[in-house]
Amino acid sequence: MYTIQEIHDFKGKYPKQLLHLAGSEMWERFCFYGMRGMLTVFMVTQLGLGDKTANLQYGAIQAFVYAFTFIGGLFADKILGFQKSLFWGAILMIAGGLVIAVSPHSLFYIGTCFFIIGTGFFKPNISTMVGQLYHEGDVRRDAGFSLFYSAINLGALFGGILMIWVGKYHSWPLAFGLVSIVMTISLINFAFTRKSMGTIGLSPLHPDMPNKKRRMYEIAVYIGSLIAIPFILKLVTNTHYTDLFMYIIGPATLVYLGWEMRKFNTKENKRLLAALVFIIFSILFWAFFEQAGGSLSIFALNNVHHTLFGFIPMDPNIVNNSANSVFVIIFAPLVGLLWLWLSKRKLEPNSVVKFGLGFLFLAGAFYAFYASIFFADADGITSLDVFTLGYFIITFGELSLSP
Ligand code: ALA
Repeated sequence: MYTIQEIHDFKGKYPKQLLHLAGSEMWERFCFYGMRGMLTVFMVTQLGLGDKTANLQYGAIQAFVYAFTFIGGLFADKILGFQKSLFWGAILMIAGGLVIAVSPHSLFYIGTCFFIIGTGFFKPNISTMVGQLYHEGDVRRDAGFSLFYSAINLGALFGGILMIWVGKYHSWPLAFGLVSIVMTISLINFAFTRKSMGTIGLSPLHPDMPNKKRRMYEIAVYIGSLIAIPFILKLVTNTHYTDLFMYIIGPATLVYLGWEMRKFNTKENKRLLAALVFIIFSILFWAFFEQAGGSLSIFALNNVHHTLFGFIPMDPNIVNNSANSVFVIIFAPLVGLLWLWLSKRKLEPNSVVKFGLGFLFLAGAFYAFYASIFFADADGITSLDVFTLGYFIITFGELSLSP
């Protein structure tokens, strides 16, 4: 088994473990963004929900996705370790897709709940594993995360196109079934490459803990996460309960952070507080950004022309689900080069300014979405080009803020 030291001492630009993790993450993001792009369209066209209810339920689903990354990260840190968390998360996501595929109309919400919890166990922990492939201060870490980011966007791009196309034009059970198939590929990829991770992501429980007790803790996490499903189901389908829940979990997260802060010295705590400020602004940014699966998805469904640049036939939901990733893949390297060029001239803006830029682009993007009103015909159907422009602008917001 590789030791951490051997992994940290890799030669070249990337550790090979990074490529393995990026592969699993690409397929997982394929499923996640594919699923995200289907949610409101399915709710409106198949379940007959009104736009407002669909949007609220989508918001509740996303709220739990984000909340469960906190919970999944916590259980990985304390009990399971990242590797087992990834396995468990992938199994839940596969189960979620399968459940919906069996009977999309009656099992949609249950399957979605499996998916929410699965994402919580998978997503935060694979990103943390990437960070751990590098020793403190290794300058190659940023390049590693850039590659990982490209894999995320490749997955999001293809998932965002394929799933909605299969669902809308062919078969919804097949589209949800595809989620399971692709997630199985992600899991198999991880299973076959897991050994190369060495001790990274193994259980954090004390090595002397008896196996029986260790297994009891793990099983408690597995069972606990399954027991959570009916609760989440209730909250997602009654969105005012979700609001209440979030009013509790938000402050509770802050209290938990405060509790953890007692372990650190003043300098470290100052950094944590600085991180907290960035986190709070990030929440705002992503809350708007994630409209992609909600209000913008519904807008694309109802109010946007099916032609790009006046002659390319194109489903607006396909654009809605994939334009951002296309622009990230094209422009992320260029923006990276721009920062490098500016930094050589000592002109690179600091993180605070980049955050500010992120918000300016966000505002510009939503102005473009708003301005599409001026291009609407008498039926309220507007230009796909202007809609795409909104995604073009928001991507620069992401590229300023997200790194
Ligand atoms: N641009 C989106 C992300 O990186 C898909 O998460």
